[in-house]
Amino acid sequence: IHPAPGSLVIFGASGDLAKRKLFPALYHLFRRGLLHEDSRIVGCARTSYSDDGFRDHLRPFLTAGTDEQRNAFLAKIHYIAGDYPDLDFYRRLDRFLDKLEAKSDLPANRTFYLAMPASLYPAIIDKLSETGMLTEGDGEDAPWRHVVLEKPFGRDFESAEALDRDLHSHMREDQIYRIDHYLGKDTVQNILMLRFANLIFEPIWNSQYIDSVQLTVSETLGVEGRAGYYEQAGLLRDMFQNHMLEMLSLAAMEMPASFSPDDVRDEKVKLIKSIRPFDLSELDRVVVRGQYDGYRAEPGVSPESETETYVAAKLEIANWRWAGVPFYLRSGKKLGARKSEIAIVFKSIPHSIFTPIRARDMQPDTLVLNVQPDEGMELTIQAKQPGPKLCMGGLTLSFRYSDLPGGEGFDAYERLLLDAMLGDQTLFIRSDSIAESWRLFTPLLENWSKLPLETYAPGSDGPERAGRLLFADSREWRPL
Ligand code: BG6
Repeated sequence: IHPAPGSLVIFGASGDLAKRKLFPALYHLFRRGLLHEDSRIVGCARTSYSDDGFRDHLRPFLTAGTDEQRNAFLAKIHYIAGDYPDLDFYRRLDRFLDKLEAKSDLPANRTFYLAMPASLYPAIIDKLSETGMLTEGDGEDAPWRHVVLEKPFGRDFESAEALDRDLHSHMREDQIYRIDHYLGKDTVQNILMLRFANLIFEPIWNSQYIDSVQLTVSETLGVEGRAGYYEQAGLLRDMFQNHMLEMLSLAAMEMPASFSPDDVRDEKVKLIKSIRPFDLSELDRVVVRGQYDGYRAEPGVSPESETETYVAAKLEIANWRWAGVPFYLRSGKKLGARKSEIAIVFKSIPHSIFTPIRARDMQPDTLVLNVQPDEGMELTIQAKQPGPKLCMGGLTLSFRYSDLPGGEGFDAYERLLLDAMLGDQTLFIRSDSIAESWRLFTPLLENWSKLPLETYAPGSDGPERAGRLLFADSREWRPL
């Protein structure tokens, strides 16, 4: 990997995401030698700071390494305060970057990261465009201009389309980097390597051998002071429309023609398009929504809030590979464990020679891709156990990234920031994929209030009815 040359401008630099995630991630890249020695970082926000004042504000969040490393990193950081609607703020920024760029021979690449509420995107993009900062020069070596955006990308199909039209009126799709931090996780990227760099999995990756797939993202935390955002979003918009669907599409898509960003993303979109639309006449048979007991008493939450903090759903993929294989997805806050995983449950063997153990009494083989907290993989198979001849049971082959050399501490934001600065869009979400995911979920949201809102106890597995969703299919959720 080459270090990324150019300037990174972070709008919303004094905010939570910037100090907790972005600057620490940049600092790690710096310590790994992955920020070019001439690269520059400019923080922008409304709060007034001097360069040194801003560096002091960041220092407590840069916990690893030595003082010398921290100081060397902080010396690359500058700060400009201004009001987002004020054109002069952007002119000052442009002049400042021109000056910094004139001091080095590196290309004047610029990456703008918008770490702020999405309602501010249009105003900022408009001003960046008006001051010419989104215009790329001609020719292959011309400096690039990239914009990195955080979700939410709209709140339904129409608003997402409107946001897209607005973005595309100022820049090309290949300048836009929509972040889904789940795509920066090792295990999520490993889905593609596992499936397409090995011979042994792909031949059985279909309805002939796979019984069902379970995708879980369970959190122990509640809304943690984000009620303002969460009350508007709810779990379906916060987790399902993005993280869950992204993981599902990687796990279920067809093999791309190459590992190029657009070939990979073409297949992901095709998969999302193949998900069968929800049958609105029997929603309660395939979707469960819940709210944890006590949510309504959280600061900033309405005492009558109908916002869901849990969703479980059964999806079907209408194509040859997956016909008849249910995909069970669940995600919730304040559950009993913090755990994200994709579990591929294989079919039982057709016949057992190990009498008296019948085929249907054996545990099915299961491949679990552990996304969190211990990134890695586990394959549980039937095997001979120590003891007399017929001692048989599940044995697990596994690895954890944290046990591998270099596997410790590479954060999702580190990878994604580096890719955005290097111009690799593979792990960023393309416009058509957003549109297709909203096309799937918007009808559900429009009928949301028709589904009962189940209450569940904090620390539990979620609403009882979520269990019945699988029970009806003679299956069970994996334990949390
Ligand atoms: C974010 C959601 O995108 O992902 C949060 O807005 C959620 O509500 C978080 O807590 C989960 O991310 P992770 O990496 O901690 O699983």
